[in-house]
Order: sequence, then C-alpha cells, then structure tokens
Amino acid sequence: MVISATVADLRRFTKAARAAGKKIGLVPTMGALHRGHLSLIERARAECDAVVVSIYVNPLQFGPQEDYRAYPRDRKRDEELLRAARADALFVPGDKEIHRPGHRTRVEVERMQDVLCGRSRPGHFRGVTTVVMKLLAIVGPDVAFFGEKDAQQLRIVRRMALDLHLEARIVSCPTVREEDGLALSSRNAYLGPEERRAAPVLYRALRSAAAEFRAGESGAGRLVDVARGAIAAEPLARLDYVEAVDGETLEPLTVARAGTLIAAAAWFGRARLIDNVTLSMDV
Ligand code: PAJ
Repeated sequence: MVISATVADLRRFTKAARAAGKKIGLVPTMGALHRGHLSLIERARAECDAVVVSIYVNPLQFGPQEDYRAYPRDRKRDEELLRAARADALFVPGDKEIHRPGHRTRVEVERMQDVLCGRSRPGHFRGVTTVVMKLLAIVGPDVAFFGEKDAQQLRIVRRMALDLHLEARIVSCPTVREEDGLALSSRNAYLGPEERRAAPVLYRALRSAAAEFRAGESGAGRLVDVARGAIAAEPLARLDYVEAVDGETLEPLTVARAGTLIAAAAWFGRARLIDNVTLSMDV
C-alpha cells in the first residue's frame, strides 16, 4: 500500500494507475476505521482496479463546540486494517496540504445543507462538501463510495457531483450494524456501557415507523410520531430530531411513500448518533 501525505505524491500514484488503464475508486474517511468503512473499501475493490482511501479529520466540518479534538485517531491501527483490506493507496494529507496558503474557496449545496442535521450543526455540510470536492479534485476517481448511514451527506454529495458536472460516479453502500441494530460509527466509542445498551433504540424507533408505513399508514407526521414516541421512552436518549423527507431532495413532506427517508439524531451522553431508514413496502 502506497502512503502519501502530499497531493503531488498521491498524484504520482493516480497518474500511473490511470496510465495503466485502471479504474480508480475513492473512499473518503476520517479514520478510526470500523466494519462500516471496510464495507465501502470492499465494494470499491469489487468495482475498481485501484482503491484510494483518504483519512483526514476535517476541522471545517466540526462546530466550535463539537468533538474535533476528541475525535478518535489511531493511524497505526487504521493502516493495519487498510493493508488487510488490500487498499492500494492511503492518502493522509495535513491541513496545509488540503488548504493552500491564502485559500478562499468553499463549496455549498444550498437548502439541502440547512435541513435535518444541518439545523443543529450549522456549517457542517459546507465543511463536508468543501473537503469532499477537494478530495475528488485531488484524486480524480472514476467512482467514489459513501455510506447510507450518513444519508444527508450522501444526498448532498450526489447533488454536488451533478451540479458541478463531476465525472466521478457516486456509489452508496448499505449501513453496517451491530447485532442489536446500532449503526457502526466512530462516535460509538464515546458511549458508556448504559448508553451503549440504550443506543439501539434509535434504529428500533425508525424500524417501527417503517413497519407502520407497511401496515398502511402514510401520514408523515404520524410516522414521525411513532419514532419520536419510541425514542422518548428511553430515558438515556435525548432526541435532536426525527423527520420524514423526500429521499432525494430532502424536502419535507406530509404524505410518505416508498423512497421517503426517515432520519433521526439523538444524544446518548456526549455521543450524538444518527440513523435513517428508507421506506419501502417490502422490508
Ligand atoms: P466518516 O464518518 O469516517 O465516514 C466515512 C464513510 O464511511 C462515509 O461515507 C460514511 O457514510 C461511511 N460509514 C460510516 N459508518 C458506516 C456504517 N456503519 N455503515 C456503512 N458506511 C458507514 O463521513 C465522513 O467520514 C466525512 O464526512 C467525510 C465524507 C470523510 C468528509 O470529511
């Protein structure tokens, strides 16, 4: 596995790969890798000939009161996991490499960045799109892989790629979960034992809303109430939001249908966890 800390060095790798006719896949991450990240890499290996994984804890996407400093970092362990997953290149840029001296450019996806998580994390998605755009420009992948777990991020990145005529295809991968349903997340490391026991309520609540939909309920407000009620019954959960929105545009809706996204965020101690389901008649 090639490890590059600079744009110039990484581009030597991508240039050679391209010259050899290889299809390049990019998996952007912030490290603290888990099976969720590894599932993206596996998918990238299946679809591409050269897999680039980036690890960059992006300060732009953390609010001033958020966990930028506390965010788990373990380069040695991440490197071992990436070697085992047979990634071809690891890109680990520093802040100065991502942002050139005197930088002035930001990328924003209007409206979509302000709803759901955007309401309680102002500036977060602007930070995400700015860095993802830079990574796409640096690596120039044929395909870039993102998890459904971060449903809003995925929709926003898709919209950005369309709007900016990017050539990279954006591929989404299903959420990898613990046996009790909790979505894998680097932030699960913040959970104390009691909070860890309580955390699966988030997915359970979303699943009950989805079951209600399959049973014939299509009122978006009613479905949201079902999920909200389930989360409210867990004393260790502090709800941020549950919302039903259009599965592509993230616009609010009153009538749910197949493809509608129900997304939720809740605090368990100092961990803010998110999850989502896409409504369907069959699962
Ligand atoms: P990070 O949280 O490290 O996640 C990197 C990628 O892994 C994202 O596409 C995310 O959706 C995916 N992922 C995380 N947990 C997952 C799970 N349980 N199942 C499947 N996929 C999962 O998301 C970011 O980093 C950053 O915002 C980034 C895109 C790298 C920009 O800084």
